Amino acid sequence: MITRMINGTIDWVDARLPVVNAFKKHMSEYYAPKNFNFWYFFGVLSLVVLVNQLLTGVWLTMFYSPSDAFDSVEYIMRDVQFGWLIRYLHAVGASAFFAVIYIHMFRGLMYGSYKPPRELVWIFGMLIYLALMAEGFLGYVLPWGNMSYWGAQVIISLVGAVPYDMLPFIDGKEGKEIGEALTTWVRGDYLLSEATINKFFALHVVAIPIVLLALVVLHLLALHEVGSNNPDGVEIKKHKDENGIPLDGIAFHPYYSVKDTVGIIVFLMVFATVVFFFPDGGGYLLERPNFEPANPLKTPEHIAPVWYYGPYYAMLRATTLEFIFNSKTWGLIAMGGAIVILFLVPWLDRNPVRSFRYRGWLSKVALAVFVVDFLVLGFLGTQPGSPLKTMIAQFGTVYYFFYFMGVLPFAHLFEKAKPVPDRITGGGH
Ligand code: HEM
Repeated sequence: MITRMINGTIDWVDARLPVVNAFKKHMSEYYAPKNFNFWYFFGVLSLVVLVNQLLTGVWLTMFYSPSDAFDSVEYIMRDVQFGWLIRYLHAVGASAFFAVIYIHMFRGLMYGSYKPPRELVWIFGMLIYLALMAEGFLGYVLPWGNMSYWGAQVIISLVGAVPYDMLPFIDGKEGKEIGEALTTWVRGDYLLSEATINKFFALHVVAIPIVLLALVVLHLLALHEVGSNNPDGVEIKKHKDENGIPLDGIAFHPYYSVKDTVGIIVFLMVFATVVFFFPDGGGYLLERPNFEPANPLKTPEHIAPVWYYGPYYAMLRATTLEFIFNSKTWGLIAMGGAIVILFLVPWLDRNPVRSFRYRGWLSKVALAVFVVDFLVLGFLGTQPGSPLKTMIAQFGTVYYFFYFMGVLPFAHLFEKAKPVPDRITGGGH
């Protein structure tokens, strides 16, 4: 009786909205390669963290007030029931988001998941990454702690690095400082003020999340159109059975929905440990100066971004070139270029072998060095500067660009690849 009622309801809805079809297309009849490994947990984990951020974000918004920013966060921490938990879930969630996303991107680099026909999957991923960086920055400003204030000061002043008079046709006035006008526009005031917080709040809770969600949907639709890559980097669609089902594919549901649940539980255990026992991550997840209210008269001893912006901040600071533009403008170009180049990866990588499993030793070593380089840059970005650190960051920046412009396009000319199998190996179910 109950089953009949449920089935009846499903039929009724299905006649009006293609839910059963959608479930089949994206879950029970989406055939994924059977050899997914550890690295393939991180897409679904990104979804988990996204949901955590949305839910805790909505709850924080119920109690946060942009006109009373710092005090309203203190109120959430001390007076709102479980407010401390919601805030820590959200703040630690931001770091978890980037940790998971960086691993997810690394997997893409390792297995060549951006290569045809998955270029759009990668491009949507990169747009998500950009939106996420903006979202993280805007959110960081909202508690209006002293690092929020000074961080915002530094980042907004970057807009001011748009060179003097580069675009005189905008205002028609020769010699007008474009950068300054742009900075005032971004701040919404002549100084960082409540107008800035209000604006950032609107962008952080409404505008960017909508864009982010839309991009995630597009990312997954694009992926399901072409099908997933896998650690061997071979196309499972090449070998199908008489029903058109890939021989090396297994239905996402129930096989991967069950497997992913294990990954999600393990992730939640690690996440909960940090939230409950190390919510400030020793000053790396919630920085010390941010426990004090914003104070325009008191610059923190050392202004540093949160760890996940570290690599780009290190590149910004490492740029000391004074030629045509000043070093700040060059810094901005290096930082922007470091992100733009990631968009171009599907076209920069000219290696005929997709997965690193079958590429030669040069590609493997270069990728390993790239990972170390990115981590070192990330660490340097969170540390006070010194001449030695600047020099290391300069080498790091050069290698970062060399990897994309020198290694990915040309490494295959200097190395011997292993034979790529015709069908996938491993993952016997
Ligand atoms: C909110 C952020 C994101 C979410 C929720 C998300 C979600 C997913 C999911 C569920 C998958 C399928 C499972 C898997 O392959 O792990 C996937 C695949 C993929 N994602 Fe993302 N993703 C996000 C961000 C990114 C970013 C920033 C990039 C890179 C710039 C990226 C690149 C890819 C690629 C290339 C694949 C296909 C991998 C393959 O088939 O080997 N994603 N994503």
